[in-house]
Amino acid sequence: MKKLGILISGRGSNFEAIARNVQAGKIPAEIAVVISNKEEAAGLAIARQMGLKALAIPSKGKEREAFERELVAALHEHQVDLVCLAGFMRVLTPYFIREFRGRILNIHPALLPSFPGVEAQKQALDYGVKWTGCTVHFVDEGVDTGPIVCQAAVPVLDEDTPETLAARILKEEHRIYSEAVGLVVEDRIRIEGRRVLRKE
Ligand code: GRF
Repeated sequence: MKKLGILISGRGSNFEAIARNVQAGKIPAEIAVVISNKEEAAGLAIARQMGLKALAIPSKGKEREAFERELVAALHEHQVDLVCLAGFMRVLTPYFIREFRGRILNIHPALLPSFPGVEAQKQALDYGVKWTGCTVHFVDEGVDTGPIVCQAAVPVLDEDTPETLAARILKEEHRIYSEAVGLVVEDRIRIEGRRVLRKE
């Protein structure tokens, strides 16, 4: 059974959605560890309530590489096969990417390559698009640039605020992140250049 390491910084609703699907037997994997770079992250409390191994590795006041060395050590110690970034608000350095090359997923609340970076829902509203959505992608050295595993589209309504739009997108995030983790741990995809294709 593949081991997941989930990295969070806050609320942790994407982590929780994955964890519930793992518990329900819908994702054939085990959550080996949940790590937050913030002690106060609500997601850590949820992880502990669910009986999962949950650690805080504070990033504050540490050199980027020193922080990542601790993170990498903890992930290796728990024999993590696949790292899932779930609202983890730190950009990873090439050192981290090298350690887990091709084995890191992220969820982004926009249809990449549109609106990478922070406040993606507000960027979509400000731009005036009629559809936006979310993307699960492999992580490479860039910001939100790696090969795309799953996407889902949601409409932008006239009365939307960044908050109402974010809530509509979040529902789809919870669905497609589990779908993408399932595809990876079941070894049902292959990567050709930028394209993630289904096997057979
Ligand atoms: C989500 O919108 C995710 O796409 C973005 O940060 C948010 C995290 O939410 N990267 P949660 O912590 O999973 O509830």
